[in-house]
Amino acid sequence: MANPFRDLFMGTNARTLVEALVPRRTFADVVLPPETRRSLEHALAQIRNHDLIFRRWGLGERHDAGLGLAFNFAGPPGTGKTICAEAIAHALGRRLLVVRYAELESQWAGATGKNVSAVFRSAAEQEAVLFFDEADAIAARRSVTMDGGYQREANLVVNVLLRELDEFPGVVVFATNLAANFDPAFERRIRNHILFAMPGAEERERIWRVQLHGEKTPLGEDVDFRALAELYPASGGDIKNAVLKAAQMAASEPVPDDQKRIRQHHFDEGMRQVQSARSVMGQSLFGDAAAADPWAALAGGAGSVADEVRDEMSALAARVVEVEDALAALPERLGRVEGTLGVLPDRVGRLEASQAEASAALVGRAAELEAATRAAVEAGRGREGLALGLAAAALLAAVAALAAALLV
Ligand SMILES: Nc1ncnc2c1ncn2[C@@H]1O[C@H](COP(=O)(O)OP(=O)(O)O)[C@@H](O)[C@H]1O
Ligand SMILES: [Mg+2]
Repeated sequence: MANPFRDLFMGTNARTLVEALVPRRTFADVVLPPETRRSLEHALAQIRNHDLIFRRWGLGERHDAGLGLAFNFAGPPGTGKTICAEAIAHALGRRLLVVRYAELESQWAGATGKNVSAVFRSAAEQEAVLFFDEADAIAARRSVTMDGGYQREANLVVNVLLRELDEFPGVVVFATNLAANFDPAFERRIRNHILFAMPGAEERERIWRVQLHGEKTPLGEDVDFRALAELYPASGGDIKNAVLKAAQMAASEPVPDDQKRIRQHHFDEGMRQVQSARSVMGQSLFGDAAAADPWAALAGGAGSVADEVRDEMSALAARVVEVEDALAALPERLGRVEGTLGVLPDRVGRLEASQAEASAALVGRAAELEAATRAAVEAGRGREGLALGLAAAALLAAVAALAAALLV
């Protein structure tokens, strides 16, 4: 009730956008291609060393920049990124703070920067592993199109997020489907990319098994996981959904419960349904070629014109962000210039006063000279009078020049 983060954690539709969970799933629940598993083990070792160095050895108290560790789990949907984030938190004995970024961003439009900061604060307080799921919008290159307000907003949020990331002392995991097209700023801060490849037949066979209960799930004698694995080049997520559909079908058979079995045709039908649902949606994030080898997409392909254009767009986008930053800084600089202008009248006033003083003194001196000239002329000393007259004229010219300077 008295949880200040309550509003933060709930969307307007009451679906949880940020959720702190005690992780249950472990690396035993996930079947990964050997390379992905190696990368994850390496990541875990890095996190443990980091913990040792910065917390137990106290170096975190002496150095306050770059304390956190950030990872990007990149790969097609359903390849186990979410489970692995959970397994990492489990291995560390910490909570997992899951942020469903895509929804969060749209629901918090207008105030998202602040909310992103609150999420980081909450994770730091709970010492939770922070997990940005569906984080493509963070990782993707910032758009150059300046006409949409939403686009600007998103850029702003990404800027806030990248800044928070610099200061966050803990572990952050991003999950992204868009393997290519990373924002250079995101790349700079997240150097640890772990690739979640589609499982091979070997892994798929084990995934089919891991989705069932070892003892309790009743299976028909005809079930052949090897055949299923070879027939369907599906992701772990697809296999999970197919298993659930198959179980539904088997449970609906009109026979007594103790005679119900999940049979091969249930699994086949389940997988066919999953596949047709996918083709209806037709929204694989990778092209067909890339689906077979998603990492080719990551490597950037063969330097096509499209790539070049994209690179240029990206450079432009970075430039636009710089210009935006400069524009944001302008009001402050204008303020400083105004301050300088503010003191100017005072200084001009002081200058005027001293010039007036100088003029008065000169006029006084000219009057004296004039008097002396007159006296000299009256006394019949012509030459002396002439010289004095010239001096008086020069002095008056100087006064005139001073007055002119004042007018400028
Ligand atoms: N490599 C895997 N091993 C075992 N199960 C998997 C694997 N990948 C996906 N699954 C199953 O699919 C579900 C969805 O996977 P998830 O981790 O959410 O994928 P992602 O986050 O990559 O989209 C998981 O809960 C799990 O049941
Ligand atoms: Mg996921």
